[in-house]
Amino acid sequence: GTTLRAAAAEKGRYFGAAVATGKLSDNTYATVLNREFNSVVAENEMKWDATEPQQGRFSYGGGDRLVSHARANGMSVRGHALLWHQQQPSWAQGLSGSALRNAAINHVTQVATHFRGQIYAWDVVNEAFADGGSGGRRDSNLQRTGNDWIEAAFRAARAADPGAKLCYNDYNTDGINAKSTGIYNMVRDFKSRGVPIDCVGFQSHLGTTIPGDYQANLQRFADLGVEVQITELDVMTGGNQANIYAAVTRACLAVSRCTGITVWGVRDCDSWRGSDNALLFDCSGNKKAAYNAVLDAL
Ligand code: XIL
Repeated sequence: GTTLRAAAAEKGRYFGAAVATGKLSDNTYATVLNREFNSVVAENEMKWDATEPQQGRFSYGGGDRLVSHARANGMSVRGHALLWHQQQPSWAQGLSGSALRNAAINHVTQVATHFRGQIYAWDVVNEAFADGGSGGRRDSNLQRTGNDWIEAAFRAARAADPGAKLCYNDYNTDGINAKSTGIYNMVRDFKSRGVPIDCVGFQSHLGTTIPGDYQANLQRFADLGVEVQITELDVMTGGNQANIYAAVTRACLAVSRCTGITVWGVRDCDSWRGSDNALLFDCSGNKKAAYNAVLDAL
């Protein structure tokens, strides 16, 4: 293949990008996006604050625009993210206890129902585990509604859109460490109790190194019977950028249940990481060395 999407498809994988829908009218942006990628995820437009700005008043304009762009261009859509401790609307930040739990589950049900049939995989819960050595849950308003909030969210998502794969998504899970092991134990528990979970997303916001057990970590999750996906890949610029991108690509291809890779933006100037120049295209839309390394690895 001569594009990321064609080369990935030859390997039975997708290659995706996070999209800010406001940029779809930028010609350079749209040209690169449509040529190179066959999966998209909304960088912000499907988050709680965007989709339910007031309680019970839903707003799907941005998400709907992305879904129709995807359909027109032969792209699948990842949904991101139904529940997260960040980018909550202020009304939700002010709730707690059963009022918050009910609002959260209603949010999952309404949003997953709205997009039913159009989403390949939903990040049902994002970033619920703590950094550091505890291996436990992150403290958050959602966590304080009870430890079962994650499984309640997955069950509601399954009921609302039975065709979507349901993912748990997190960062700092790029090797075998306390945090990734905590998540691994949750997934194993969910599988053993029949809680509906289909996939684990590894954000893979990387610096200038990649853990040596990156592939082994993906494999241990895959061995639980879930799909694994690289969901928000970006890599700090520096001598290793192209090599790290290639290593992530090879690791995904080496794990049969690793179904695709998503980079968190198109051009360096689109990236939330700013001066890290963390993406595959420069600000003019030209291919970087990292792009060629990924294409060669596919
Ligand atoms: C980021 C977006 O890229 C920014 O535009 C926004 O201001 C903050 O969120 N982990 C995630 C993503 O799961 O949703 C985050 O996206 C990056 C970190």
